[in-house]
Amino acid sequence: MKTITLNTKDHISNIFIGEKFENFRDYVDPERVIIVTDKNVFKLYKDRFEGLKTIVIGTGEDIKSFKTVEYIIEKLIELKADRNTFLLGVGGGVVTDIAGFVASIYLRGIEFGFVSTTLLSQVDASVGGKNGVNFSGLKNIVGVFSQPKFVFCDISMLKTLPEREIRSGLAEIIKHGVIGDPEILEQLDKEYEKIKSLDQKFLEKIIYNSVSVKSKIVSIDERESGQRKILNFGHTIGHAIELTEDLTHGEAIGIGMVVALGISIEKCYIDPNVFIQIEKLLKKYGLPTELPKDIDKVMKVISFDKKNEKDGLNFILIKGLREPVIEKMDLDEIAKLIKKK
Ligand SMILES: NC(=O)c1ccc[n+]([C@@H]2O[C@H](COP(=O)([O-])OP(=O)(O)OC[C@H]3O[C@@H](n4cnc5c(N)ncnc54)[C@H](O)[C@@H]3O)[C@@H](O)[C@H]2O)c1
Ligand SMILES: [Zn+2]
Repeated sequence: MKTITLNTKDHISNIFIGEKFENFRDYVDPERVIIVTDKNVFKLYKDRFEGLKTIVIGTGEDIKSFKTVEYIIEKLIELKADRNTFLLGVGGGVVTDIAGFVASIYLRGIEFGFVSTTLLSQVDASVGGKNGVNFSGLKNIVGVFSQPKFVFCDISMLKTLPEREIRSGLAEIIKHGVIGDPEILEQLDKEYEKIKSLDQKFLEKIIYNSVSVKSKIVSIDERESGQRKILNFGHTIGHAIELTEDLTHGEAIGIGMVVALGISIEKCYIDPNVFIQIEKLLKKYGLPTELPKDIDKVMKVISFDKKNEKDGLNFILIKGLREPVIEKMDLDEIAKLIKKK
């Protein structure tokens, strides 16, 4: 097991990589715990929930809504949850985002933690303290910054995760490699078989390296007033593609990164070899790299998504590996550069 301590201004959060779900009893009195999980995880790991107070929610992005927040709060009241209650989110990013949000508003905030069960939530969603829900067609438009007491990345639970979801997480790991630690890219390129066979030791190492990149950035800029924006590399376009196409978050972000790297070449920021290296790596892991044919549709979604950013979008470009830059760009310029490709 490896540990990362994330220090923010007024909080310390420990991330235990390789710790197992059932060991949560060593970190918090089980009498205090109420679990929030989704129905897939509950069904797959039924025996581990035995005897524990558990609230089960549905699956999919649509579940990350106020309706589900109300449902969880109703159940918490039924279960007589009080200020001493510890809410434990067990699942992927949908569960951790919503469980962290409910814990932050129930009785003005109770303690919470996560057992992260997808690769994407282990390297990204459960780390960093952003918790929230979607509303009115806008992703993560309502939420809070609040840090969990602890996060377990239970690598053994990845065995039941569909391959497509593993790929989705790999895209975020590649993102962390590009913006903060090129060694991650080399390891992924070299150890394809270890990823395919879900080699526990290797996963522990790569998840540790990936979380290290994110937690360093978050500890400098928890509230995304500056530096944290670089974590959105690939996400401006990726989010829009996620909404217009039938793709997972990571698949869409993979395409978003390729587009951002393409624009970085157009603006003479990077050596085309960096673009080739990343595109090759994404393809190696079966991630799509081609933009959807209807670019105008994607651009329309971006303008809806970012309608509150009045003086241009903060677009993340790359000057080299480990050298991301935040650039103000307007939609027309982005569209022009994409179409030029
Ligand atoms: N808060 C943040 O900083 C942040 C960062 C990135 C993403 N996110 C959010 O995370 C969400 C996506 O997270 P995700 O990719 O984990 O999706 P998810 O939570 O929807 O999980 C994907 C699927 O895998 C299933 N699953 C979970 N664990 C499993 C396991 N061990 N075995 C088998 N199946 C399992 C789930 O039931 C679901 O069907 C999005 O809502 C996104 O906005 C948040
Ligand atoms: Zn993401």
